[in-house]
Amino acid sequence: MGGSDSSTVDAHVTASRAASAPAATPPFDIAAWRARIPLLQSRIPMNACSQGPQLDVTRAAADEYLDSWNRAGMDWEAWMAETYRAKEEFARLINASPDEIAVSSSVSEATASLASSFDLTGARRRVVVTEAEFPSLGQVWLASRKLGWEVDWVPVRDQIIYPEDYEPVIDERTLLVSATHAYYQNGYKQDLAAVAERAHARGALIYVDAYQSMGTCPIDVKALDVDLLATGNLKYLLGVPGIAFIYVRADLVERLRPVNTGWFGRVDPFSFEVKGLDWAPTAARLDAGTPPVVNAYISRAGMAVINEVGPVNIEAWTTELSRYLIEGGTRRGFKLHGTDDLARKTPSTAFFCPGGDSHRVEESLNERGVVASARGPVIRLAPHFYNTLEDCEAALNALQAVFEEDLHDGGSAAAGVAAGHVEKA
Ligand SMILES: Cc1ncc(COP(=O)(O)O)c(C=O)c1O
Repeated sequence: MGGSDSSTVDAHVTASRAASAPAATPPFDIAAWRARIPLLQSRIPMNACSQGPQLDVTRAAADEYLDSWNRAGMDWEAWMAETYRAKEEFARLINASPDEIAVSSSVSEATASLASSFDLTGARRRVVVTEAEFPSLGQVWLASRKLGWEVDWVPVRDQIIYPEDYEPVIDERTLLVSATHAYYQNGYKQDLAAVAERAHARGALIYVDAYQSMGTCPIDVKALDVDLLATGNLKYLLGVPGIAFIYVRADLVERLRPVNTGWFGRVDPFSFEVKGLDWAPTAARLDAGTPPVVNAYISRAGMAVINEVGPVNIEAWTTELSRYLIEGGTRRGFKLHGTDDLARKTPSTAFFCPGGDSHRVEESLNERGVVASARGPVIRLAPHFYNTLEDCEAALNALQAVFEEDLHDGGSAAAGVAAGHVEKA
């Protein structure tokens, strides 16, 4: 398997796109948005669960930072203002106030920061964690046992989380329920309002990892009654690695005293009081060191696109794409991982790889011009608002060809594993 020749890829893309006609249309000008994504000229991106594509505006935002650096040498005022604008854009996305938002560098770091924030001297020091969390979350909570946390687990059964499985695990010793909104493996979406209600009924708080859902559907932290939430930006939010946002419900801010802190968590970061440890009165107390400014530029632009297209519209269209992928995959004999309930899934649709080597499938799809995302035993097709039904048809056709090829070539699965692969969720 060599690298892909781009003209071959383009031919594949064109031929397979022509194979079907659209049966539904999105509630926004999809052609105009597609024209702003250069990657679409050579690839069919179906990997938004892993990395969203670059748009003209995200590119321009990166350039804006680089130009200001070049022009002015440094412009901290503008750079800090842009970081705050990124907080504002994120706040808009989740119906919160910018004062309820902190900036971090990753969801792992955000979680570690929250874990270090609570007073664990009382009877409540348990965290309930689902087995559907991204491994980082489980790992941070396990490592936080040395701070005093005790960790309880909600199981994954039948590749999803059953809401009733929280029942026996949350009790009067539970301080926090750490629940992913969507399962990274297959896009299964939990009913957050129901989990929040369960947690609150027992006097516990709920912390949501929204990395796999943010940007695909409306998430209103007030309506859902979520206490804490974090997400990064490189997936459906069309951004880059190295930045994440934390939401803290306003009336909870006072309780949090993170060990992971720094000068930006202070009332006045520029007071330079080396022996003073006051706490910003807002969620900014979870800010730590110098923020990731260039990432803030890019991520603000990406989130602005999501706010402009509209999470409601994105959910409506990507639900049609999911329907198409599930029906088309089932017709071709693919085995679905997770749920076929469209109301309970993100745009990510996961199929088992019959040959067993999902990385090889990812590589082979890439050679056919389809960018998908391998994860354990499955290949994930994760379209976004800019994808068409023709994209889905092309991806399914390519996947069928790859699966057939793989089944005739069983020996190479072991070679793929031996070569070692880097997985990115
Ligand atoms: C649901 C979910 N949470 C967390 C992460 C990891 O986040 P980070 O790398 O920002 O710590 C991922 C994947 O990257 C993810 O899919």
